[in-house]
Amino acid sequence: MHDFNYIDGQLYCEKVKVKDISRQVRTPFYLYSYQTLVNHYRNFEKVLSGSEHLICYAYKANSNLALCKILAEEGSGADVVSGGELRKALQVGVPPWKIVFNGNGKTAEEMELALQSHILMFNVDSKPELLLLNQMAERTGNKARIALRVNPDIDPQTHPHIATGLKESKFGFEFSQVIEGYKLAQTLRNIEISGIHMHIGSQITKVEPFVEALRKIANLAAELGSLGIKIEYVNVGGGLGITYSDEKPPTLTDYAQSLIPIIKEIGAKGIFEPGRVLVGNAGILATKVLYVKETQNKKFVIVDAGMGDLFRPAFYAAYHEIKPLQQSIEKPSTTGYRSSTIVADIVGPICESGDFLAKDREIPQVKREDLLAVFSAGAYGFSMSSNYNSRLRPAEVLVKGDRFQVVRERETYEDLVRREKEQIN
Ligand SMILES: Cc1ncc(COP(=O)(O)O)c(C=O)c1O
Repeated sequence: MHDFNYIDGQLYCEKVKVKDISRQVRTPFYLYSYQTLVNHYRNFEKVLSGSEHLICYAYKANSNLALCKILAEEGSGADVVSGGELRKALQVGVPPWKIVFNGNGKTAEEMELALQSHILMFNVDSKPELLLLNQMAERTGNKARIALRVNPDIDPQTHPHIATGLKESKFGFEFSQVIEGYKLAQTLRNIEISGIHMHIGSQITKVEPFVEALRKIANLAAELGSLGIKIEYVNVGGGLGITYSDEKPPTLTDYAQSLIPIIKEIGAKGIFEPGRVLVGNAGILATKVLYVKETQNKKFVIVDAGMGDLFRPAFYAAYHEIKPLQQSIEKPSTTGYRSSTIVADIVGPICESGDFLAKDREIPQVKREDLLAVFSAGAYGFSMSSNYNSRLRPAEVLVKGDRFQVVRERETYEDLVRREKEQIN
């Protein structure tokens, strides 16, 4: 469910006509709905009520401060993977005891900051990381609470770039080495074992891979228990998929009802790290048609947003629904393509053949200056953007009811060159 709807052929975000925003902000821009975000978060909380749990929103999905603050005010914790994300979480007021630190390449400086901030725990990815964390904890005079990230060797049946729980993945402790990892942790003076962590991938549209992985975690927890190692928290990571096109991911209720009994069986508190499912459908990317180009074999709709703004299609061949901000009133026919539609590649202005937002897509006839909405762009959209081709990253706008506000200004040329030097001394 989301709050982007057509009324009389015009796309609205909550009560604001998106076209009105584009007049003031200019394209391309990301647009987020406050109400959608809050509803998604509250629904997630609701399905977990009745179980001891903590939701740590995965900042990597979208770390715009305004969105992070909304979620912090709703009570969300934070899953961070860098010093930058940690500082953002602290800045918007997430209590340190609701912050978990993930990632396979934490630096000593990042550990120091997190230790001094007294975060809830580190999800430790490897043995050398555990050893460094122990040293850093000693140096800062703090104990580091930890979970080991377990690679449960489960196929999450998603795109290979976002599958993280397979044996060959770079993430986590290999399953056969987990017990040894905990035994080592037990011997380290500045480490306190607090939990166990998994994250098997993203955009997962079935509940079974989560259940299968969590069952393996439950067996591990039992084995650890028999060694006198108590697991207070089970962190099931994120990964729940959303509808981009016609996927039917599990409902939040299905997801929760499948996992909570296993967490209870382990006798632990659950930590959840949702990203995409909270913000994905709470955002769109608005873009403008620059040119429509026809070759002998193909049509191209060239728009002012590209892979630098939304990397997912180029990176994962990901599908995003794309529709004009203003719909024609014509009724769809049941016999194949309509004469008023075209089949085209929707491409960006970047000098790469891989720079596309959609391939061979049937869309209504469009012309120069028409505006398009790229749907489900709230997660891994702006957060994966870049300045490639020395392009300025787009604005981000938040709608709340009948009001909108720019929550990140479009970059300027000065932003682009601020840290560069024209010559050496
Ligand atoms: C450790 C961890 N937790 C949570 C997430 C969030 O995943 P999603 O956005 O699919 O919910 C990710 C995403 O890569 C992750 O790596």
